[in-house]
Amino acid sequence: MHDMRFTIPGQDLNREPFAFKAPDFQKKCEVMITDRGYKCRITNIVPLSDNERLFLLRIVDPVEREMFNFRPGQFLMLEVPGYGEAPISISSSTSNHEFIELCIRRAGHVTSALFETRQGAMVSIRGPFGTSFPMELMEGKNVLMVVGGLGIAPMRAPLFWIGNHRDRYLDVRLLFGAKDPSQLLFDYQFEGWQRVSNVKMHTIVEHADESWKGRKGLITALFDEFTFDAKETYAIVCGPPVMFKFVCHHLDLMGIPMNRMFVSLERRMHCGMGKCCRCMVGSTFTCLDGPVFDYWSVLNLKEAI
Ligand SMILES: Cc1cc2nc3c(=O)[nH]c(=O)nc-3n(C[C@H](O)[C@H](O)[C@H](O)COP(=O)(O)OP(=O)(O)OC[C@H]3O[C@@H](n4cnc5c(N)ncnc54)[C@H](O)[C@@H]3O)c2cc1C
Ligand code: FES
Repeated sequence: MHDMRFTIPGQDLNREPFAFKAPDFQKKCEVMITDRGYKCRITNIVPLSDNERLFLLRIVDPVEREMFNFRPGQFLMLEVPGYGEAPISISSSTSNHEFIELCIRRAGHVTSALFETRQGAMVSIRGPFGTSFPMELMEGKNVLMVVGGLGIAPMRAPLFWIGNHRDRYLDVRLLFGAKDPSQLLFDYQFEGWQRVSNVKMHTIVEHADESWKGRKGLITALFDEFTFDAKETYAIVCGPPVMFKFVCHHLDLMGIPMNRMFVSLERRMHCGMGKCCRCMVGSTFTCLDGPVFDYWSVLNLKEAI
């Protein structure tokens, strides 16, 4: 029989995998909750900017690698042995079973330790956790994707999904705003998204020198570049919480119903599975009922943004 146990020096990762089903009163959405840990090797590290890198992880066990499935918008808990865990969005295509891509900003304890690792280093992941973007619900409609800065990390999975099922969606647009041109991460993929996935792209930065030929300003300025039928449109918004307010207010004025706007909410998390209460906003567990919420629900969550 296949032995799923493994060791990392100083770490006890030989816990029994088990399925945890939260009681109904805690949970509004149907999500798979699992405490299972997967041992992964970092196979590639791609520098994206001074402070952000793309890490390609490969689950070591071939059976587990094939089994690992997730939905666009879900996250996992990434453990750097000896340093702890951090919640990170899965930034790869759901159809890619070979590698898990994580786009990570150096922020603190765990992510700084990760930035010190090299290709070939071992880490472990738990998950996938949380709710996802309703990709099937959006079929037959326009999809407006609005991204601020590192919000591109959770947006890549729905982008790949749409690219793989492009005939199921009408007009798809990606509005991408950043502080400066170096923060327009994955610029090497823009052409592919536009040409292959037929996604219309609009970019804007807040600050740039004269070598920047694009637009300068805030992301909401991009809304004057195109028109769309609001009643036939869903929106996905990923970025800093301050951006949600302005962008979603703008989308509301343009006529998109709030329950057709989806945002990915970030909260400090510890367990990722409804046990520690670290991520709670009121009585809502961001790790179970989120991170993806419709904007109407977010407005009804006190102090969510
Ligand atoms: C669902 C989810 C998905 C995420 N996806 C990504 C991702 O794809 N890529 C990525 O780089 N990061 C992502 N993050 C953020 C990442 O988990 C945090 O930056 C995390 O704290 C990094 O761990 P650390 O130990 O390096 O930093 P820490 O040592 O824990 O903290 C570093 C600094 O960030 C602050 N901080 C930490 N978390 C938050 C928060 N949620 N809100 C405000 N301030 C915070 C701390 O106060 C501290 O100042 C995600 C977070 C969540 C909840
Ligand atoms: S992170 Fe522990 S309950 Fe949500």
